[in-house]
Amino acid sequence: MNPIQTKITLHKLKNFVKEDLSQMDLVIARLTHGKEQLIFKLSNHLIASGGKRLRPILTIICAKLFGYAGNKHIDFAAAVEFIHTATLLHDDVVDESSLRRGKPTANHQWGNKASILVGDFLLSQAFKLMVAQNSLEALDILSSASAVIAEGEVMQLAATNNLTITEIQYIEIIKAKTAELFAAACQIGAVVANGSEPENQALRHFGMSLGIAFQIIDDALDYSANIMDLGKDIGNDFKEGKVTLPVLIAYRRSNELEKAFWLRTMKLLDQKPEDLEQAIDLIKKHDAFNYCLDQAKSYINQASAALSGFPPSEAKLILSGILDFAIERSY
Ligand code: IPE
Ligand code: IPE
Ligand code: MG
Ligand code: MG
Repeated sequence: MNPIQTKITLHKLKNFVKEDLSQMDLVIARLTHGKEQLIFKLSNHLIASGGKRLRPILTIICAKLFGYAGNKHIDFAAAVEFIHTATLLHDDVVDESSLRRGKPTANHQWGNKASILVGDFLLSQAFKLMVAQNSLEALDILSSASAVIAEGEVMQLAATNNLTITEIQYIEIIKAKTAELFAAACQIGAVVANGSEPENQALRHFGMSLGIAFQIIDDALDYSANIMDLGKDIGNDFKEGKVTLPVLIAYRRSNELEKAFWLRTMKLLDQKPEDLEQAIDLIKKHDAFNYCLDQAKSYINQASAALSGFPPSEAKLILSGILDFAIERSY
């Protein structure tokens, strides 16, 4: 699907929860007005520059799947987006990224120290929101998710420059750093709507599988996207020596000469300007993008299966639409 089509698809999905999303945006705006101007400037820079809002959309739609008609899900959705935003602020420092959502990253504009500190502030706002809701169960889900995400980022750091990590290890890392929040976002939507334990677990499983697929596609897009569509730099993972699925597969299928290329560039980080192009050529030569797509599709199928117990509804259709978007997206 071309980028314009995927944008239309996401727009349609967002339309279904438009009212709830604008209420959530109000909560976010209110809580980013710290005493210090820099907090507002920096968080607003990132929040106002868009973002797909996928995780809070999941919380809202999972609540609606049960016909939930209250308003507690708004604060939980805001908490989920705060955790996501804080993670991005920290992640861009760690990854030394300079472009996010089509704009210079906060670390590029205000420096690493400001990004880390404001990230901490946003994380605390998420927890204040949850405590105010008085749901120990939701607090448990999101605080555990936060810990797992941080652990995932550290696991990834420890695996940097390591071309011998296995596919299983790779999946463990992306489950922790990315899929866990998708899982938690869906699960608390169900919890807030008083879903039964098997229903909550089904939605957790749905989110987990979707999140894994989402990160696999993200890792493929890091080598294949158009910068204008993605709003992030291409080749960042390569530059950092972050070994992701496209590289793992290309490396595994490489001849000796090609293996030497990957070792020089990703293990030793001895890179020349033309190396990224060669990396992309090798990934294509060894059909690693298609491998990633197939893997992502199989997780999307698992996510779809997790929904099978729920009766047909508009909310269920939107959740299926998100699964399609995750595979077809170009940004
Ligand atoms: C970026 O997530 C981090 C990953 C897990 C790849 P998104 O692609 O959902 O980021 P935004 O919020 O839309 O910018
Ligand atoms: C996802 O990993 C980051 C987190 C979820 C913490 P990436 O590092 O690939 O995300 P981008 O590409 O910077 O958005
Ligand atoms: Mg990153
Ligand atoms: Mg990425």
